Amino acid sequence: MTILSQNLTISVAPNASTHRIDRRVYGQFAEHLGRCVYEGLWVGPDSEIPNKNGLRKDSIAALRQIKVPVVRWPGGCFADEYHWLKGVGPERQPMVNNHWGGVIEPNVFGTHEYFELLNQLDAEAYINGNLGSGTVQEMTDWIEYMTLESTSPMAELRKSHGRVQPWKIEFFGVGNENWGCGGNMPPEHYASLYRQYQTYVRNYGDNHIQKIACGPNADDYDWTNVVMASAGEYMDMLSLHYYTIPTGDFSAKGPALDFDEQEWHDTLAQTRRMEELISRHSAIMDIHDPGKRVGLAVDEWGTWYDVEPGTNPGFLFQQNTIRDALVAAINLNIFHRHADRVRMANIAQMVNVLQAMLLTDGPALIKTPTYHVFDLYSDHQDADYVPTVGDLGEQGDCTVSHKDDAYTISLVNAGLDHEIGAAVQLPGQISEVLRAQGITGATHTSHNTFDAPDAVSPADLDGLRVDGRHLRVTLPPRSVATVRVSLVE
Ligand code: AHR
Repeated sequence: MTILSQNLTISVAPNASTHRIDRRVYGQFAEHLGRCVYEGLWVGPDSEIPNKNGLRKDSIAALRQIKVPVVRWPGGCFADEYHWLKGVGPERQPMVNNHWGGVIEPNVFGTHEYFELLNQLDAEAYINGNLGSGTVQEMTDWIEYMTLESTSPMAELRKSHGRVQPWKIEFFGVGNENWGCGGNMPPEHYASLYRQYQTYVRNYGDNHIQKIACGPNADDYDWTNVVMASAGEYMDMLSLHYYTIPTGDFSAKGPALDFDEQEWHDTLAQTRRMEELISRHSAIMDIHDPGKRVGLAVDEWGTWYDVEPGTNPGFLFQQNTIRDALVAAINLNIFHRHADRVRMANIAQMVNVLQAMLLTDGPALIKTPTYHVFDLYSDHQDADYVPTVGDLGEQGDCTVSHKDDAYTISLVNAGLDHEIGAAVQLPGQISEVLRAQGITGATHTSHNTFDAPDAVSPADLDGLRVDGRHLRVTLPPRSVATVRVSLVE
């Protein structure tokens, strides 16, 4: 095995511009799709699976550990077919989930259940409204139902359904993928509708809603330009969707498990495109919004593979390997670097769909390698980004942040056959190592199963050395590590 050794020097120049890493880049996405909401989160109060008010306790406990800051719901493509009134009150009205397998959506999980989920997770609301097939009236009524305290038809309806106090909505999306499943609109048409609909997304009482406009699909720079020019002043954020597809071809994406080393490299190359996409969309946004008032919300990202053989093609169920852990870490590092513009990101999706945190099978639940990266990275939430000098070679990557008088350093080795010896120089003497953990896979397809749930799980770092201002870490192939240190005052 060749041992590469490169030095990474961390230096915080006195006037280096830095920015806060918004905790919301660790956001999640939960759509009415496959077994994400039903089974993954919601089992109902009468289920034998241990639950609190219908939400499974094991999922909630695991998700609380990674400090989920915000949950985007109810879609996705589902959002532009969702009619919220069918999902409140004692008589729920089923509908067909046209996008996702054509199954019957019972609407048992609706607005009240969503806010119960947020309550149990201690997370913020990001609701995606229906612009594609819903009316302005329907959207404004929903906002009134959720957030108006005083007497009004919608507030009274909410109260009659057992909720007296209004809820808070921090973020509201006005349509989803309106260039595609949300209405196949050209950007000019969407921008006009966005201006109209957002007018009626009102703030009641002290609730302040940040409005999120539908942004581009991957590298559709024209969409960003047109929507920003026409409607930029009416939005707080613009979304961006980009999925990592190993082949780059939606019709034959590649398997989640049975992939070769070339597909490993192709996948990581596809995921690194996120850096260019954010840079170029952000540069267009700069033309219309040089002060960076409008944030970029990468509210759908992650790997998208062919579904697991034998599963419903409309349910988007896929396994999750150490490759997904690397994808997660590389994307989070990119979001950190661009956190002056990227104020939210929502990985798709939280449970049992695409690049999930958790997989369930009846009462059993496993944490994926991606989950463990979110855990290893949790100290970066709301920390100050620390620019670094130096690099870890072609396959290496790193990110550093500072919070609560400690530095968190996360290091990535995406190589398949070499270690990286990383020397990290801090701006002062290291006094204490507060955390030093990492994950790796025995092979490039290592993953967790219901029989071997901890095949890929965090372990204390071997061979970590502290030497004055230096930290020396050996990163095995296919690994992600985090070290958190405090310095002598
Ligand atoms: O996450 C799955 C789907 O991907 C979402 O519903 C849609 O917005 C996107 O195309």
